[in-house]
Amino acid sequence: YSTNRVRIVEVGPRDGLQNEKGSIPVSLKVELINRLANAGAVNIEAGSFVSPKWVPQMAGTADVLKQIKKKPNVHYPVLVPNQRGLQDLLTLLDENPSSPPLTDEIAIFTAATDAFTKANLNCTISESLARLTSVTRHALDRGLRVRGYVSVVIACPYSGKTDYKKVREVAEELIDMGCYEVSLGETVGQGRPHEVAEMLEEVKKSVPVERLAVSFGHFHDTYGTAVANVLTALEHGVRTIDSSVGGLGGCPYSPGATGNVATEDVLYALQTSPHQVSGSYQGDTIDLEAVSEIGWWISEALGRESVSRVGRAIRAR
Ligand code: HMG
Ligand code: MG
Repeated sequence: YSTNRVRIVEVGPRDGLQNEKGSIPVSLKVELINRLANAGAVNIEAGSFVSPKWVPQMAGTADVLKQIKKKPNVHYPVLVPNQRGLQDLLTLLDENPSSPPLTDEIAIFTAATDAFTKANLNCTISESLARLTSVTRHALDRGLRVRGYVSVVIACPYSGKTDYKKVREVAEELIDMGCYEVSLGETVGQGRPHEVAEMLEEVKKSVPVERLAVSFGHFHDTYGTAVANVLTALEHGVRTIDSSVGGLGGCPYSPGATGNVATEDVLYALQTSPHQVSGSYQGDTIDLEAVSEIGWWISEALGRESVSRVGRAIRAR
């Protein structure tokens, strides 16, 4: 797969903030999303329609969608775990018709192990896939596009090393049900580049690399291998990287996992390389310095320093 255009999905406002202790004001989430869009991000996860008992940090996503300053050509996907979440979103869209709509994309999620799926969705993998099949059909009928996630593609905090064949099977099912792409989540951040390579080669047996090319990459940086893993994924044909401004995040159901790979760190690694990061469909690029500043701003708003290596280096210059 030869294109050198790399697409970044900015997951900071969702995957980043969902792991914060305590609740986060809607106004802060809205400002984070607006700042990212102004810096050139074109895919920005805006929140989740999940149970507030499970993930209280994502409460208020409906208000976030209503309040962000929507830019044309920017997608603001939201996570939806079940019919209830989709119904809440569709009601919001019906009650607030606008052009462009409040959002045009949902993300559904499952995992490669039953233990993780149980912790994250309170069901087995196959139960989750059955639910998600009807969620996806319904969302597609309503004109939304659907992105799929598979968590714990290298290792699982509850069941150890992941069977890559299971990753392949689940990814294939998500594509078959209608997801335009599948993001393979290296949720715990223990993965090494050679393991990422092996996993990807397995998944590519069943899912065309183009569908992964625009969908793969969710490397959390627990052991410091995240940027190396991103580059390995690019070598294996993947062209979409999920990353998080300021390295925000982790997963509430993945004990010990630190933040996601920082968007700034990915952007820096790709600067002056043959890979061009798409900052908009017009061909602009994302502004590294601006993203780095946003990483500092949001980290300081949360009471700490940016953990992005590049963010720290830029500030020290
Ligand atoms: P459950 O307890 O089995 O669900 O949870 P339930 O159907 O029995 O409902 C329990 C209560 O939640 C009920 O309320 C429902 O109405 C309500 P009550 O009667 O007790 O007052 N409820 C909802 N409320 C709001 N929105 C909804 C919803 N559904 C039910 N959509 C459930 C099942 C799926 C709801 C729960 O497990 C859940 O919300 N899980 C989401 C967990 C989550 O958001 N995890 C983080 C995102 S995934 C991730 O981070 C990984 C990723 O980044 C990739 C990677 O890095 O690996 C994507
Ligand atoms: Mg994640």
